[in-house]
Amino acid sequence: MSTEPLLAVRGLAVVIGGRHILHGVDLDVAPSGVTALLGRNGAGKTTTVRGVLGLVPRTGSVRFLGEETVRLATHALVRRGVGYAPEDRGIFAALTVAENLRLAERPGAGGPAYGLVHELFPELKARAKQLAGTLSGGQQQMVAIGRTLLNGNRLIIADEPTKGLAPKVVTEVARVLERAAQAVPVLLVEQNLAMVRRLAEHCVVLADGRTAHRGPAADLLADPEATRRLLGVGRRADAVSEENPMAPQDTGTAATSAADSGKAGA
Ligand SMILES: Nc1ncnc2c1ncn2[C@@H]1O[C@H](COP(=O)(O)OP(=O)(O)O)[C@@H](O)[C@H]1O
Ligand SMILES: [Mg+2]
Repeated sequence: MSTEPLLAVRGLAVVIGGRHILHGVDLDVAPSGVTALLGRNGAGKTTTVRGVLGLVPRTGSVRFLGEETVRLATHALVRRGVGYAPEDRGIFAALTVAENLRLAERPGAGGPAYGLVHELFPELKARAKQLAGTLSGGQQQMVAIGRTLLNGNRLIIADEPTKGLAPKVVTEVARVLERAAQAVPVLLVEQNLAMVRRLAEHCVVLADGRTAHRGPAADLLADPEATRRLLGVGRRADAVSEENPMAPQDTGTAATSAADSGKAGA
C-alpha cells in the first residue's frame, strides 16, 4: 500500500472578518485507518476542516489524492471523494433514517452504496422508517457516518462525533467509526483521548491556529507531559470508572478531556 498521504495540508491559513484564525496548519491523513486531529477548544480544528473543504476562504496547499485542490470549490472537492460529518451531525430530525440517507445520494459510478452502509450498520436498515430525531446520539452518528459512506468516498472527515454524548454512547460511536475506518480512511477531530487511543494510529495537534505536534498517536498518549502541555488534560482525567468505560486500563495518560467526561446527553 502506498505510504503517500491521502490528504496533505501545508501552511493552511484562514482569515475570517479580518481575524487570523489559522496561520500555518500542516496535516497529513494516512491512506488507511484513523488520523486524529486534536487540540484544545478554540485551537482551530473545525476551521481546519472547513478550510480543507473550502467552506471558508483559505490559502496554502491542500493536496488530495495527489492533486492540489486549494482553488477548487467545495462541491468539486466533495465530488473527488470527501465525506463530511459535521460537528452537529447535520441530521434532519423530522425525516426518517432512509430519507436522511437518500438526501445524501450523489450521482456516480455504481450508485449509492447501501450494501456497504447496511453491512456496517444493520441498525440503519432495521430503523429505516424511524424518524432520525428519535434516534439515540449513537444511532444519529451512524446516520451521519453512514451518509459519508454512501458515495464511494475516499476520505471521511468526522468533527467531534462524541461531543456531548454519554460515556456509553461514546463507546458505541467508537465501534461505528472503527467499522467505517476499515472501509475508508478517516480524519477524526476528537477531544476524547480514549477514542484517540482506541482508534487512531497518527495524530496532529493544533494550538492557536498552528500545528503544534505531529506523530504516532500512541507516542503522544504515552507522554503525560506532552498531553498536558498540548491538550490541557492531566491526571485528573485519567480515572477509570464505571461512568467512563472508554477510560484506559493502564496508567499514566489522559483518558478523556475533563470537559467531556460525565457530560450526559444524546
Ligand atoms: N466564523 C468565525 N468567525 C469568527 N471567529 C471564528 C469563526 N469560526 C471560528 N472562529 C474562532 O476561531 C477559533 C478557532 O475555532 P474552531 O476552529 O471552531 O476551534 P475548535 O474546533 O478547535 O474548537 C476560535 O477562537 C473561534 O472563536
Ligand atoms: Mg470544533
